Amino acid sequence: MSREQAHNRMKQLAEQIEQHNYLYYMETMPEISDFDYDALIIELLELEKQFPDLADPNSPTQKVGGDITKEFQSIEHKYPMLSLSNTYNAEEVKDFDQRVRNLLGHDPAYVCELKYDGVAIGLSYVNGILMRAVTRGDGVSGDDVSTNVKTIRSIPLKLKGDFPSEFEIRGEIFLPHKGFQKINEERMDKEEVPFANPRNAAAGSLKMQNSAEVAKRPLDCLFYSLLGGQLPSKYHFENLTAARKWGLQVSEHLTLCSNIDEVIDFINQWDKKRQKLPFDIDGVVIKVNDMAEQALLGSTAKSPRWAIAYKYKAEQASTRLRSVTYQVGRTGAITPVANLEPVQLAGTRVKRASLHNADIMQKLDIHNGDMVLVEKGGEIIPKIVGVDKSKRDLFAKPFEFITHCPECGTSLIRNEGEAIFFCPNIQYCPPQIKGRLEHFISRRAMNIDSLGEGKIEILYDNKLVKDIADLYDLKHDDLFGLEKVFPAIDDKKERKVSFQEKTVDNILRGIEQSKEIRFERVLFAIGIRHVGETVAKKLARHYRNIDALINTFQDDLILIDDIGEKIAEEVTIYFNEPGNLNLIERLKLAGLQFSVKESDQDNPQTLEGKSFVISGTFSDFSREELKAMVEKHGGKNVSSVSSKTNYLLAGEAMGPAKYEKARQLDVEIIGIKDFLGMIP
Ligand code: IVH
Repeated sequence: MSREQAHNRMKQLAEQIEQHNYLYYMETMPEISDFDYDALIIELLELEKQFPDLADPNSPTQKVGGDITKEFQSIEHKYPMLSLSNTYNAEEVKDFDQRVRNLLGHDPAYVCELKYDGVAIGLSYVNGILMRAVTRGDGVSGDDVSTNVKTIRSIPLKLKGDFPSEFEIRGEIFLPHKGFQKINEERMDKEEVPFANPRNAAAGSLKMQNSAEVAKRPLDCLFYSLLGGQLPSKYHFENLTAARKWGLQVSEHLTLCSNIDEVIDFINQWDKKRQKLPFDIDGVVIKVNDMAEQALLGSTAKSPRWAIAYKYKAEQASTRLRSVTYQVGRTGAITPVANLEPVQLAGTRVKRASLHNADIMQKLDIHNGDMVLVEKGGEIIPKIVGVDKSKRDLFAKPFEFITHCPECGTSLIRNEGEAIFFCPNIQYCPPQIKGRLEHFISRRAMNIDSLGEGKIEILYDNKLVKDIADLYDLKHDDLFGLEKVFPAIDDKKERKVSFQEKTVDNILRGIEQSKEIRFERVLFAIGIRHVGETVAKKLARHYRNIDALINTFQDDLILIDDIGEKIAEEVTIYFNEPGNLNLIERLKLAGLQFSVKESDQDNPQTLEGKSFVISGTFSDFSREELKAMVEKHGGKNVSSVSSKTNYLLAGEAMGPAKYEKARQLDVEIIGIKDFLGMIP
């Protein structure tokens, strides 16, 4: 295929795919099967691979993702992203209406919308092309999450119809119930902690670094406000209706109301109907329709005076308390859990609820066998919010918080002024040991993903591991044939985990490969309190090997950027403990990385966090050599120019589309000399 033919076909494919996206999401009337749709995407991806300089940065293949974001760039909002003040009953809504009428001197028309429960997003379109997607952040500036947002299939990368040349549209990114369930089932299968609610899952998804992973999450988006200099109408309702015509998803439930009674009707109707929606809403938003009136009413520092949210009450049910059990967390924290007579609540059968801590139990004055009020807010785990004392048995006894750890029998402690009791038996309390092991193998630490939570439990039960160094002594014969049936709990089905040949091979390979994990991650993995990923990186870079860190003093640690007294103290405590020093010696003998590798020292990471597009030819270097140089110094190579690209490294006969795109997006264009000057 000639370049020209390829270019034409690529444009044709992109148009077809955009049209099918529109039919699927906006009209909910797909014309082709998923299989045929995927075939179009694959053909376009192939062509983009063959002719990378012809690839459009807003090609619908962006929906497949693939770009990695190391750090999200902070972007100042053109218009501040305000929040809404809340109301909880009809009276407060009427007060709002009264205030608005007093200020305007007449009755306004209102628009009622659903209040979607997800993550706010602002999208900028220039000439119909999606340029940038920014989260709310602190309202003044947010994170540029464009690469991730582009993977959301209902968000168009190119608009149709008659749109203003520049505008911003705001909306909410959320996970519909079905998608949320699917993600959580997958997480539980992989023995990862499930998300507490769809909102957390959506927020977590948007901040993932690999956009190909985001593409797998069935996120959706509904838009609720249009901003800009040349909007199609003076009315909010009409602007949203126009946006719908450009291909942007606006809810069909948007309703124009001519007075506050109609607003209250809308609120009441949706209090019932919301159960049937395929996604969560937590209320209704009421807005003045006329934008000139909105401007007149203005805003306070936090929220507009022309809009208000009405929040629905969390659903509640009453049931009998059967008993209270106490769970020991990975850090030794004790959580009381109420076991209940099963009750139907917000579509699920609830058998357990959190009681949080000793103070809350005391405040509730909860007694054995009490009738309790259970509430399900946005969280998956319901909580007890009240006790019906009138139904209390005369001889019922109040609960006394336990004094000893239910797992290891050690006396519990509670730090002054804190509500949580802890088990101080860090070394030997089983859930704490298992917690440390789980942290050690986790993806961001040693990444031994062949050893999920359940398998750690089996190894621990069989006395094969009691600390992280024991993992490196495991042999094939220790593991082969082990098995355990994990009983069904709540939504999790009963499941049997058995160590077959392949499982054992994978585990041993995962453990072996972890010996290559860089020092900074090992330092994070060993689980020193308050030493997270960033602190571990700082310590590794500063001290370069574990012995230097072990031998340092608390006063020296504090001199390092971002290391405060608390961290310095915990690091010193950790390395003063002979048991920990012994553990490190054993891990060293096992072959783990306890110093920064020479190769890293020779190649200062001067390009860290910077992304490069290399285009054209260079007389002294091949493109592959240049790409390797970028990576060696911590930079990232990307194939197409986007607003996130830092530099376009331009050679001879560079693709004109890339050059044009870089100019449009203000991406710095550099030559080979500039590039060589950036690396030592
Ligand atoms: S309008 C200045 N409309 O609720 C008014 N917000 O506290 C800006 N939200 O984080 C918001 N559904 O993301 C508006 N139909 C809707 C909404 C909505 C959900 C979220 C929004 C913001 C929060 C407001």
